[in-house]
Amino acid sequence: MSLVNENKNNKNRKILVTSALPYASGSLHLGHLVEHSQSDIWARLMRSLGHEVKYLCADDAHGTPIMLNAEKQGMTPEALVDGIRDEHWADLQGFGISYDHYHSTHTEENKNLVSEIYLKLKGAGHIESKVIEQYFDPEKEMFLPDRFVKGTCPKCGADDQYGDNCEVCGATYDSSEVKNPKSAVSGATPILKESKHLFVNLKQFEGMLKDWVNSGTLQTEVSNKLAEWFEAGLQSWDISRDSPYFGFQIPGEENKYFYVWMDAPVGYLACLKHICDKTGEAFEPWINPNTDHEMVHFIGKDILYFHSLFWPAMLSGAGMKLPNAVYVHGFLTVNGTKMSKSRGTFIKASTYLDHLNPDYLRYYFAAKLSDGVVDIDLSMDDFRQRVNSDLVGKVVNIASRCAGFIKKKFDSKLSAELHNQALYDEFMSHSDEIAQLFEARKYNAAVRQIMALADKANQYIADMAPWVAVKDESRMEEVHQVCSTGINLFRVLMTWLAPVIPFTARKAEAFLNVDLNDWYAINSPLFNHEINKFKPLMARIEAETLEKVMEASKQDLEAKETSVIQVENNGQLDKDPISDEIAFDDFAKIDLRIVKIVDAKAVEKADKLLQLTLDLGGVTKNVFAGIKSAYKAEDLIGKHTVMVANLAPRKMRFGLSEGMVLAAGPGGDDLYILEPHEGAVPGMRVK
Ligand code: MSP
Ligand code: ZN
Repeated sequence: MSLVNENKNNKNRKILVTSALPYASGSLHLGHLVEHSQSDIWARLMRSLGHEVKYLCADDAHGTPIMLNAEKQGMTPEALVDGIRDEHWADLQGFGISYDHYHSTHTEENKNLVSEIYLKLKGAGHIESKVIEQYFDPEKEMFLPDRFVKGTCPKCGADDQYGDNCEVCGATYDSSEVKNPKSAVSGATPILKESKHLFVNLKQFEGMLKDWVNSGTLQTEVSNKLAEWFEAGLQSWDISRDSPYFGFQIPGEENKYFYVWMDAPVGYLACLKHICDKTGEAFEPWINPNTDHEMVHFIGKDILYFHSLFWPAMLSGAGMKLPNAVYVHGFLTVNGTKMSKSRGTFIKASTYLDHLNPDYLRYYFAAKLSDGVVDIDLSMDDFRQRVNSDLVGKVVNIASRCAGFIKKKFDSKLSAELHNQALYDEFMSHSDEIAQLFEARKYNAAVRQIMALADKANQYIADMAPWVAVKDESRMEEVHQVCSTGINLFRVLMTWLAPVIPFTARKAEAFLNVDLNDWYAINSPLFNHEINKFKPLMARIEAETLEKVMEASKQDLEAKETSVIQVENNGQLDKDPISDEIAFDDFAKIDLRIVKIVDAKAVEKADKLLQLTLDLGGVTKNVFAGIKSAYKAEDLIGKHTVMVANLAPRKMRFGLSEGMVLAAGPGGDDLYILEPHEGAVPGMRVK
């Protein structure tokens, strides 16, 4: 019998593993978690196999949307991206994503590296400049990315469409073709203006890219896609943006910034540089094309172009190592369709974590993920059943059926021999293959094998029925060995599952009194080993909990729609409390009025909303305000406050909202409506 599994690549590989850098523009949602779970399982597996892994990610901080967002919120972009980075990192830790470091692209390391790469590209003649014509907002004095031009679709005539595509007829076009164009930033009519832009000449990399693609490291679907792009002809890539832009200045140019997609992938290396500098390890071998250090990127299918054409071209032009693999996954759908805010299926990472164990979702994703570029569906019913039947019903069950006997009858000590060594050996004969399936990202197949073996373990215990044998004093040794076999099989299963369900693995470690992070430790079973008290490792998912998650996701949306202007002060504003100046005329457009709250009631089915009836001095208005956590409806009746009276009415799920009331504070129960001094009466204009 052999308990030794042979891993063919049993050398200590050095692998940089990354996930795509989330934009610092919004919260992480469950779609993002597909990728972080996929890469985390892989990184944890490789560590368990004894390789040296640098598993890294960062927030992608630059670009026009982030700049404008910061402006809208009255903060500096630096403050905005710092805050969002912290939020993202907290969410990721909540899901047990084990990045060795979580960085930002807005750092000195990144600025230096992107400049260095650019200068090398330039020195080698890969950079060219061209004058292009682009829409310019004369009020904001900025060039407008296509997304920030709105107008009438040139194909179907639908109004209010984006400058790059029409959501009504699906046409894609150039922003210069849009009829009646308006700037989405200021509303002004944009003018066409010329500017010099810098380009990477991608054509010069065609040969190198084809070699790289044909080296066999890419998924078939991915190389097919690339073949199409080669066929269509490679276009030069525009890497500069004019000021104002939140990004890094291009060395040797005036008022020109690197386009966000230029410095974003460099962020992978900047993060690595950061930790190398911190630990004193050499960075150079990681980028040197002649070492066997590996670089592996996990990305979604929407950003393939950047990672399979631009990024390798940049690296090659700068004389650096090319990625060993770009692993592309599909998109997440929920209950069979695109995540939808109104259906409550656009679930934020933090909302999930408020209600559910992260291991549930990690397991479910693993059970569905393959090495293909296919979309995966989170179907709520299937999710609950799968987790309950596999993890709770099969895996955890093995331990809970055996643990009590070991503790009560055998002083918490496992036997000196297994009752069924052959079964243990059979399990171990799968260990290499399971490792290989995980490494090949066929997580679904790995999980299927593990669960089939868990079934076997349960069947074995059911057949041996230690709960019957234990009644017979003469069969005590048998009970001891059977339960010890069960515990040992549980340990094997949990070692295989540890990369998938790390939180449960940590609890199982406390129970088993062993380390489950070593794939090879299970080569020897535990004999005469003392275990600890068994505590339930995982509860079942209840259907009501999933309903709560969806309900809370609908409310996340409401919080956005809420009809309160929040004068926020969450600390970050202190640095720069004055947001963009507006002209007096702009201010004068806002009709602020004193109102009396004549009626207030809670909106059923909405955790955050109160429905207010406001008297404006004869006229009444109906307003939905997101202040339910801060006020009881009855306490508001009779109070005076201030409303925006000339806001265009908005249709909400519960009815028409005809304005906003003013309130200050970060939100939740920490929110205060404004109240005028005595003497102000309903209808008075605030000026
Ligand atoms: N900032 C860029 C990536 C720069 S990498 C140098 C970006 N950010 S993103 O926040 O939009 O997306 C981050 C990753 O999440 C991408 O790989 C993207 O494919 C993935 N996903 C975003 N929504 C997703 C789903 N609904 N489903 C699965 N993955 C999804 O792109
Ligand atoms: Zn159209």
